[in-house]
Amino acid sequence: MRNTLLIRSIALFLAAGGAFGCSGDADPGARVWRKKCSACHGSDGAGRTRFAEGRPFADLTDGRWRHGPDREAVRRLVADGDPASPMPPFAGRLSPEEIDAVVDFSLGLAAAGRPGARP
Ligand code: HEC
Repeated sequence: MRNTLLIRSIALFLAAGGAFGCSGDADPGARVWRKKCSACHGSDGAGRTRFAEGRPFADLTDGRWRHGPDREAVRRLVADGDPASPMPPFAGRLSPEEIDAVVDFSLGLAAAGRPGARP
């Protein structure tokens, strides 16, 4: 069955990521970011990926926000997603603690992209 194969490859992929990719990710927010967000937003949050092409708001470091910069709005977006864009909902796929951690991590990336500014 094709589906079984697909699920197996995904499981293998996740297992490999877990085994080899964890070095240096003491921060749970960084771990979640790398696994769930960086494919679209880039590891630095600047959104220079093919998934973010033509989506200027996928750049979290430029100080321009559609949903932020306040923490509650960003958290709501990460939990519920934005049906009008490729930004997916993570409620149910991440624990509330993981969502909190990755929201803090992304606000940190946003601040790092704008020296001197706080989100
Ligand atoms: C499938 C690709 C994809 C994934 C995976 C993804 N995002 Fe997004 N995200 C987007 C896109 C595209 C946008 C821009 C939405 C728009 O155009 O309004 C966005 C928007 C955002 C914004 C709002 C920016 C603004 O201007 O308000 C935040 C914050 C955000 N993402 C955080 C995350 C976090 C945290 C994760 C991981 C838990 C994540 N994203 C995973 C594609 C993705």
